[in-house]
Amino acid sequence: MTMKKNLIDFIDISKSYDGNLVLDEFNLYVRENEFVTLLGPSGCGKTTTLRLLGGFETPDTGKILFDSVDITNLPANERKLNTVFQKYSLFPHMSIAENIAFGLKISKKSKQYIEDKIKYALKLVNLDGFEHRSVDSLSGGQQQRIAIARAIVNEPKVLLLDEPLGALDLKLRQNMQYELMRLKEELGITFLYVTHDQEEALTMSDTIVVMNQGYIQQIGTPEMIYNEPENAFVADFIGHSNIIDGTMIEDKLVEILGVKMACVDEGFGKMTPVDVVIRPEDVELVKPEDGYLTGEVTSLIFKGVHYELDVMANGYEWLVHTTQYVPVGTQVGIRVIPFNIQIMHKPESSDEKAVEIDE
Ligand SMILES: Nc1ncnc2c1ncn2[C@@H]1O[C@H](COP(=O)(O)OP(=O)(O)OP(=O)(O)O)[C@@H](O)[C@H]1O
Ligand SMILES: [Mg+2]
Repeated sequence: MTMKKNLIDFIDISKSYDGNLVLDEFNLYVRENEFVTLLGPSGCGKTTTLRLLGGFETPDTGKILFDSVDITNLPANERKLNTVFQKYSLFPHMSIAENIAFGLKISKKSKQYIEDKIKYALKLVNLDGFEHRSVDSLSGGQQQRIAIARAIVNEPKVLLLDEPLGALDLKLRQNMQYELMRLKEELGITFLYVTHDQEEALTMSDTIVVMNQGYIQQIGTPEMIYNEPENAFVADFIGHSNIIDGTMIEDKLVEILGVKMACVDEGFGKMTPVDVVIRPEDVELVKPEDGYLTGEVTSLIFKGVHYELDVMANGYEWLVHTTQYVPVGTQVGIRVIPFNIQIMHKPESSDEKAVEIDE
């Protein structure tokens, strides 16, 4: 495999607002044609990261490289980036066509070229024929799609997209996800993408960056983030997992909720406090007498493909996904195969720093 070069480097970036540290020694690189997604709870610094890269903010310390050139102090309009902001900012006094053509006119493209591009972009976002509509007459989701169209007609090297699909319904959202991935393949665009939606992140990204309170918690492929979360925060954020205090008795044996269970992990030492993560889809419901623990179903919600259940067992409310219908009040046993029990070191403190990732 050929290694693609770094297109963007954030190096030791820190940023505070009014004495509040929003990004703390943030380090991240993005390779050419990579789709990188920032994922994390509200206020963790995602938009700030994009604004720093876009040139709409300056870092307190650290630098940003683009193609190995320091752009930390380069004005926004001289960066080869296009941004779609979280609050899609179309020009209200211009028609849709004028909005889309704005960047192309500045770079003095021919009239025919611009007309073709407008048509192409409107088709791409499923709004053919909207050229002469006013911004006011569009719904939120339509405005959001125009903002995307406006960014892509410039064929930027990098697209910064801040929750660009947030206002769209599920079907449109999936269509747009597909179109954005196609743009990446066909035009070779590099994406730095922000979303709240973990499913969207898992579907679209080459690399996911999980952030919390200005720190990077984990960087990895969707598979790595989902299957091998580095800590309980990532596990919980990605999967709404069961995260239970446990004690590693010895290699391959852990105790949770007063019950010893076989697992596959080794090297935690003896009698070590750990976090034990078990995904809802990995909890097996069996007859009470066959379970490692027994409990009672306390809630049941139909989710379309599966049921989501709460099961109170040994003082812990287990989240369970199953295709079985198990009514509230049923006594059940719980089993988990060793492979599906994930053992994690406890964070040293609740605001543990970024986990270092070696590639
Ligand atoms: N211009 C500003 N002045 C003061 N505080 C700011 C400013 N911009 C951002 N912040 C603060 O910095 C923190 C990070 O904000 P940011 O917008 O980067 O979060 P986010 O991860 O994008 O969140 P969300 O998912 O809600 O969009 C927040 O606590 C926010 O209030
Ligand atoms: Mg934001």
